[in-house]
Amino acid sequence: MTRTVETELPLWPPVNTARGPFTPLDDAERRRYVGPVRRVRLPTGSSAWLVTRHADVRHMLRQPAFSSDFDRPGFPLLRPPARSTAGDSKGSFIRMDGAEHSRLRRMLTAEFMIKNVRRIEPLIRGSVDQALDDLAAAGPPADLVSTFALPLPSMVICHLLGVPYADHDFFQTRSRTLLDREMPPERVRRDFEELRDYVRTLVDDRRARADDADDLLGRLVRERVEPGELEVDELVGMALLLLIAGHETTANMIGLSVLLLTGDPARYAILRDEPERAADLVEELLRYLSIVRTGLFRVAVEDVEVGGRLIRAGEGAIALISLANRDDEVFDDPDAFDPYRQAHQQVAFGFGVHQCIGQPLARAELRIALVALARRFPGLRVTAAPEELSTRDNSIVFGLDTLPVTW
Ligand code: HEM
Repeated sequence: MTRTVETELPLWPPVNTARGPFTPLDDAERRRYVGPVRRVRLPTGSSAWLVTRHADVRHMLRQPAFSSDFDRPGFPLLRPPARSTAGDSKGSFIRMDGAEHSRLRRMLTAEFMIKNVRRIEPLIRGSVDQALDDLAAAGPPADLVSTFALPLPSMVICHLLGVPYADHDFFQTRSRTLLDREMPPERVRRDFEELRDYVRTLVDDRRARADDADDLLGRLVRERVEPGELEVDELVGMALLLLIAGHETTANMIGLSVLLLTGDPARYAILRDEPERAADLVEELLRYLSIVRTGLFRVAVEDVEVGGRLIRAGEGAIALISLANRDDEVFDDPDAFDPYRQAHQQVAFGFGVHQCIGQPLARAELRIALVALARRFPGLRVTAAPEELSTRDNSIVFGLDTLPVTW
């Protein structure tokens, strides 16, 4: 009986490559998924609750009754688990709860505070200039994703962590595998292990040299590992998490933002003519593009109510931040991109204890990159229509594969 009901549930995420890069769900899909909390079927055959309203999403993500630990029974998974040994998630605090989560997150809070990100703005500007030089040398025409959008966040996160940028091909291809929900589990496992071994070598090297490297890995070795507060395996997991979370996300935001802004020359000109508006513009880009489109996944560890529905302990739930960002209870005319909107209620970085720790850095990178691009390439235009572009539909982080531009 239960099985019959389960197979009738709508599949999440829906397979649809025709809706274009700016629409998280088309009209028919919205009727199926948006509104009160409802059950959906996942590609792995299990079911979960889908939460789409802004107020419900925030309520859910604030509840300690939900766990982020995907090893717990009932955790909603989009692909079969690729990890087999319990030690694999060590240090990866995005998957941890309670005191375990906050112990590790706290070790990084100061690094990503706004005032510290301000201090590294010259580094961001330097990386932007270098990426712009590379773009200028590559074209016109050129692919903006591979020459500008991807290298920039990679350069910044490598510099911050103390990872050699020369290795970016190695970790970029592997982190893409980890984010691809269609990838076979054995491939995910192999790429994860290669990445972990790579980061472990860097950490071992720092420990052996006992140098005074002024980068995050060096600082964490000296200040946390050596006094015995942090295990080496935990540091490796934390560094891996930052490396993966820190570049594909920002890169995809840059690519999609350029596509959206250059689609209307007046919009693109705001960056050059009113750079003081860039911070608000970035907030609206984050809201409108909401690149984490498959949602944030949790399992209930005790019975809990969300949007008037009782979610029982052991049941999965998915917070759809991309839909919360299009909720007309909170945003007027939510499907319109409005560069003059104050979109501070947007939840593209999540909400609650797991809210993105890298958000001050991501905001700074987006703001600096987009303003510098518009100044240096005021006539930049995309040479393909949005619907012709190949998009990363299988990735947990939505984005463009390529963005052909000229100037
Ligand atoms: C968490 C989005 C950039 C590091 C998250 C979460 C979201 C997100 C939605 C919440 C996950 C959850 O609740 O399950 C984004 C977007 C970015 C971005 C849209 C770019 C525009 C970055 C950057 C870094 C970073 C630049 C680091 C350098 C992290 C980490 C977490 C996280 C470590 C886990 C936080 C925790 O569990 O306490 N991000 N992120 N992110 N993000 Fe980001």
